[in-house]
Amino acid sequence: MAILVTGGAGYIGSHTCLELLRSGYDVVSLDNYYNSSPEALKRVMKLAGKELTAYDCDIRDRGGLQKIFSEHAIEVVIHFAGLKAVGESVRIPLAYYENNVAGSVTLLQEMEKAGVHCIVFSSSATVYGDNDPPYVEDMPTGAVTNPYGRTKYIIEEILKDACAANEALSAVLLRYFNPIGADSSGQMGENPNGIPNNLMPYIAQVAVGKLSELQIFGDDYPTPDGTGVRDYIHVSDLGVGHVKAVAYAMEHTGAQAINLGTGKGVSVLELVRAFEKASGVNIPYKIVPRRAGDIPASYADPGKAKELLGFVTQRTVDDMCADTWKWQSGNPDGYKA
Ligand code: NAD
Ligand code: UD1
Repeated sequence: MAILVTGGAGYIGSHTCLELLRSGYDVVSLDNYYNSSPEALKRVMKLAGKELTAYDCDIRDRGGLQKIFSEHAIEVVIHFAGLKAVGESVRIPLAYYENNVAGSVTLLQEMEKAGVHCIVFSSSATVYGDNDPPYVEDMPTGAVTNPYGRTKYIIEEILKDACAANEALSAVLLRYFNPIGADSSGQMGENPNGIPNNLMPYIAQVAVGKLSELQIFGDDYPTPDGTGVRDYIHVSDLGVGHVKAVAYAMEHTGAQAINLGTGKGVSVLELVRAFEKASGVNIPYKIVPRRAGDIPASYADPGKAKELLGFVTQRTVDDMCADTWKWQSGNPDGYKA
C-alpha cells in the first residue's frame, strides 16, 4: 500500500516522507521542485535506509497524475504541494489561486477517476483569522486577510463539499500552527529561497552570519512581554501527526478539521533566548514597528488531535532550536552544499 505525497521534497513534505518510511509505508513523492530540491529526498532515503519513488511532476498535470495513479496502488494522498508566501500572494494572487486551488481540484478529480478516496490536506491556523486563541476546530473560519490564507480556506470548503457529495470520501484537514525545527540528524531542514519571511529561519540565518540582525516586529502587543506569541511545533512532530492522520483517514469517511500544534504560546523574545541558549550564539535584534497583518497571539487547542488521532507533541522549544541550529550550522547554504 502506497502513500502519494504531493510536495514531498518540501520542508514539511520531506520530514513527513521520512516518518512514513520509518512507519513502514511505501512512499511516492510528486514535486515540481519549484521551492525544493531532489537532494532532500536523497537524504530522506539515506536516513530511512529505504527507497521511495520520486516523480518530477506538477499537480496541475493531469497526464502526470494519471501515470502515477496507474503505476502505484495509492491508498492515501497527503497534499502539501502549493505556494506559501503571504506577501507574494498579495502581489500575484492569481498564481496562488491557480496553483493552490485549481491544482487541488485537478488532483481531486484525478484521485476520483483513480478510485482513491482518502486525502490529508495541509491547511493552516491562518483560517482562524481574528478569533481569540486558543483556536478550536469548530470556531468560524474564513476571515483571512490575504490570498494565501484564502486558498487554504477555499480548499477546506471544497473538500467539505466533495465529502458531502461522495460518502466514500475521507478528508483530514490539518491546520498547522508554526512549524519549525529540523530532523535531529542535522541532514534535513528548512531551505527558504532568498531572505526568509518567517521568524525561525531568519534567526537561524542571523546566527550563522548570513543576516546581520533580527528585526522584531513590535513590542507593544497585549502579550506578557509585548512581542507576538505563536504556537511553534517541531516539524518532526508534524510528520508523526501526518502518519496518524493517514491511519485515521483510512478508517473514517467525511471531512474532519484537526489542529496540529502544541497548545503553548511562545513569544518572539522567548524564541530568541531559547535559540541563543541552544546555539551559544548571540542574536542581535532591534525592535521595529508591527508587521501589517500580524495578530498578537495564535495557539492551538490540541485536544481534538489527541482525541481523534492519539497525537501529542513530544519535542520542546529547546529541541526545536537545537535541531534548527544543527541543520543551519552544518548546511549554511541548505541543500546546495
Ligand atoms: P514548501 O514550499 O517547502 O513545500 C511545498 C512543496 O510543494 C515544494 O517542494 C514545492 O516545490 C512543491 N510545489 C509547489 N507547487 C507545486 C505544484 N503545482 N506541483 C507540484 N509541486 C508543487 O512548503 P512547506 O513549508 O513544506 O509547506 C507545505 C504545505 O503546508 C503547503 O501547502 C503550505 O501552505 C502548508 N503550510 C505550511 C506552513 C509553514 O509554516 N511552513 C504553515 C501552514 C501550512
Ligand atoms: C506566518 C504566515 C501565516 C502562516 C504561518 C504558519 C505571514 C505574514 N504569515 O505567520 O500565514 O500560516 O506563518 O507558519 O507570513 N517576526 C519578527 N521578525 C521577523 C519575522 C517574524 O518579529 O523577521 C514575528 C512576527 O511578528 C510574529 C512571529 O515572529 O509575531 C512569527 O512570525 P512568522 O514566523 O512570520 O509566522 P506567522 O506570523 O505566525
